[in-house]
Amino acid sequence: MGTVLFVVTLHQTAPLLAKVIVLSACALAVGQFLYRGQYFPRVIMDVLSRLSDKAGLERAFEARAKKLATINAEDLARRVKARVVGQDETIDQIAIQLRRRFAAQGRNRPIAVFCFTGAPGTGKTHLAKALAEELFEDRNHLHFFDMSQYGQAFSASGLFGSPKGYVGSQSYGALTAALRDMSNAIVLLDEFEKAHPEVHKRFLAAWNDGFITEASDGARVSTSQAIFILTTNAAGRRISEIAQNHKGDRAELTQQVKSAMLDAQFAPEVLSRIDDVFIFNPLRGLDLARVVALEIERLAAQYDLKIAEGGIDVAVLVDTVEALGDRVDGGVRDVARAVEHQITDGLLDARGAGARFIRLVKEQDRVKIVHDPLEASGHLKDSASTSS
Ligand SMILES: Nc1ncnc2c1ncn2[C@@H]1O[C@H](COP(=O)(O)OP(=O)(O)OP(=O)(O)O)[C@@H](O)[C@H]1O
Ligand SMILES: [Mg+2]
Repeated sequence: MGTVLFVVTLHQTAPLLAKVIVLSACALAVGQFLYRGQYFPRVIMDVLSRLSDKAGLERAFEARAKKLATINAEDLARRVKARVVGQDETIDQIAIQLRRRFAAQGRNRPIAVFCFTGAPGTGKTHLAKALAEELFEDRNHLHFFDMSQYGQAFSASGLFGSPKGYVGSQSYGALTAALRDMSNAIVLLDEFEKAHPEVHKRFLAAWNDGFITEASDGARVSTSQAIFILTTNAAGRRISEIAQNHKGDRAELTQQVKSAMLDAQFAPEVLSRIDDVFIFNPLRGLDLARVVALEIERLAAQYDLKIAEGGIDVAVLVDTVEALGDRVDGGVRDVARAVEHQITDGLLDARGAGARFIRLVKEQDRVKIVHDPLEASGHLKDSASTSS
């Protein structure tokens, strides 16, 4: 209103100046309108406006960033526990730590450096993978490195690149390339103790400085949005004993475990940079049955099959767990192998017969797979498939 009165008054005193002001304002408005890209030829528009919904995408990215800044620890723990059994306390602790650490982001170092330790086959690698998927809701946010492949001092170049003039300097190291392409991710350093101590030391810069330097071109790649998870079963037996006899608080437990890892050849400077150590319990009883059930579900999914509600016969689970007996050394790997051996043929047959939902029934010493076309009504129809 003020602007209109000003222009009208001006028009009476200096008509030419008023016209110039009105015309310039019009030109400015048209310019701004065009600048938004709506009347530009399609080829010079932002690719996202042209091929997608740029504004919607910007909103989605903002929502995602906000969500990760304030993760819901309880919800995260609940989702991970649905996939990893028998490690509830560890999962709760991890979720709480992550929530705190995400809230304190912005420091020039990774969000967290965690170490998972404990007996083989207790879910260390499995949990790290499940955590990446549940935290970022996407499989691509996991950078997996089998550290047993970096057992020689020179093999660090496979991760951090090779200096110019050396073999391999044409391409980035595997770690620098992964973090350059996706910096907000879990970096899983599996079986960390199997890498050479020189390789261990190269990680110190990643954890202390918040970036790593690619050797081939000197580029800095940020590590400040990454979560590093080291898994190890070095000193596994001693750590299990410490965990069993432990009564004090978590900090004290972590100190004791770190001293056991020091004796198992972990360098003190590497240990001092690990924020938290989590100990995995051996799996027993119902937890083993849960793993067997999850394993069956996973195998069935590979054949596009679903387990009908309550569809695994109790006897199948009891017998498999009993067959494992007290052999805890191989952990659930043995269970997984036994289950796979028993049901693979049956799953193949069921899929061949066009089943979608199946049930597993124990018949004498065999696991019989029956398929269930009317799953909602619980009506069963036998397929011809039986496996031993
Ligand atoms: N706690 C668990 N809950 C659900 N599944 C599990 C659990 N532990 C193991 N599994 C199953 O067993 C497989 C092997 O476990 P995983 O690789 O996580 O063992 P690990 O603790 O990393 O052992 P290692 O120290 O030998 O590497 C997993 O892929 C998963 O299918
Ligand atoms: Mg493992």
